[in-house]
Amino acid sequence: MKFINPIKRGYLALEAWFNISFGPKWNPLYHLGTLTFFFFWVVLVSGIYLFIFFDTSLSGAYASVEYMTHEQWYVGGIMRSLHRYASDAAIVTILLHMFREFALDRYRGFRWFSWVTGVPTLWFVITLGITGYWLVWDELGLYVAVLSSQLMDALPIVAGSMASNFVEGHLTDRFFTLMGFLHLLGQPVLLIFALWIHVKRLAHVEISAPRGLAVGSLLALLALSLAMPATSHPPANLSRVPAVLNLDWFYLNIYPVLDYLTAGETWILTTGITALLMILPWLPPKKTGPAAEVHLDECNGCGQCAVDCPFDAITVQQRTDGARWEYEVVVKNKLCASCGICVGSCHSSNPFRSSRTTLETGIDMPQYPIDKVRSETRKVLSELSGEQRIIVFGCDHAYEVSALKSKDVGVMSFLCTGMIPPTLVEYVLKNGADGVLITGCRNGDCYYRYGNIWMDKRFDEGRKPVLRPRTDRERIAVYRAAVTDGAKLTREIIRFKAHIKALTAADDQVPDSVPIQRVDL
Ligand code: HEM
Repeated sequence: MKFINPIKRGYLALEAWFNISFGPKWNPLYHLGTLTFFFFWVVLVSGIYLFIFFDTSLSGAYASVEYMTHEQWYVGGIMRSLHRYASDAAIVTILLHMFREFALDRYRGFRWFSWVTGVPTLWFVITLGITGYWLVWDELGLYVAVLSSQLMDALPIVAGSMASNFVEGHLTDRFFTLMGFLHLLGQPVLLIFALWIHVKRLAHVEISAPRGLAVGSLLALLALSLAMPATSHPPANLSRVPAVLNLDWFYLNIYPVLDYLTAGETWILTTGITALLMILPWLPPKKTGPAAEVHLDECNGCGQCAVDCPFDAITVQQRTDGARWEYEVVVKNKLCASCGICVGSCHSSNPFRSSRTTLETGIDMPQYPIDKVRSETRKVLSELSGEQRIIVFGCDHAYEVSALKSKDVGVMSFLCTGMIPPTLVEYVLKNGADGVLITGCRNGDCYYRYGNIWMDKRFDEGRKPVLRPRTDRERIAVYRAAVTDGAKLTREIIRFKAHIKALTAADDQVPDSVPIQRVDL
């Protein structure tokens, strides 16, 4: 039995709980990256509105924010509140997104790049929020400005020049305008660039949150903005120490630390945490399996594997072997995550093919080649006995299917269910199995991204290579479950056997064009 660490177990349980309330399609825990993008959109749109009425001068900033908050509360005030609450929400989703990748062990091995490039985005977002508070130029803005300057002055390159800006009479408009420039242009551009790098390693990156989730989040932000409008502290006064400050703990949590640590110690603490996060993917490292291999003899250069690869690891180029096809595919070994999804997308991965002894396909996984898949399938089929003989195809990253094996249930585990060629399902149904049950990661949890989606589209939506129409879809079920869902899966097999028994009793030999039964826990 696989060991599942308590953090992963807990997180999966939380996701399952959210699935009950929101359904898998709108489960926010499956869409934390896209939700963050959505909050950024809200911040951008509300920010543009605020900029129109904002006075970027030191003397006019506070009054212009007050005007929007009170006199123009019905638009300006709401925009200000949306700007603040969407920024706070983004911090929550970023931290959860980060925690999720960690909890589900999606931060090591081939994922190191996404993780390491994610860490600086946290800095960029937090510092963007800090300069935002500064611009209001109220007592909180002054507090942030003074303490930020103390922090900066502790750095050897700045060396004591910034805090002097806040000795009465010294603060210049130019310095304030510089903050405005940073917040309104410099930092957002830097963040966009950082995010572009962050998702560069991935293909088919989704940055739009599902509509229902986006609308729901916007309504929640609006309700919060009306119930608790964002307001300012009294105006900044360099000669007065503020009595009470309402900190935004999402962005300003580092400042109270300065009550206990010196600026230098605070830098050591924050850079230490950052460095630890950066090296986390190697504590300990995770090995990625061998990269996919192209077999030009069987590749006609159709490029479907390049389209399906979730990590942009396959490219199409002009043929190099003089064959009659125009193109061939090439694997970029360094980018390959060893998911095997390309094998499932290659039309040559067809167990019915080839009377020769070895089955070859256009692109294959050295650790589990298609020929081994076919010979193992034959062995599993030959060992089945009983009345309802079921084959379970599983995924190495989901529930360990070997635990489900019995005399009438044969099991096989793949690198990802996206690796399963549709013809293999047809093959087992033609060669002794009465039913095929495919189980793999829950939809939002697919370890390799897109394995489930491509499989569904190949089975039901005409994506190549298709599951042929003559395949009896009533004898196929897809039951996606978490690694912790063994008991539910066992019950599903009992239900599926009863379903197959009923079909057999009805002597239902003609394939119906019914959709495949699918459950996502
Ligand atoms: C500004 C904040 C961030 C945004 C908007 C963001 C957004 C995204 C998006 C859209 C993806 C692609 C998901 C997919 O299509 O499967 C992604 C992937 C990822 N992110 Fe972030 N991210 C942010 C910050 C972070 C941080 C702080 C970390 C961790 C330090 C992180 C770690 C990862 C990892 C490991 C992946 C790879 C997931 C995979 O390969 O399936 N991200 N992020």
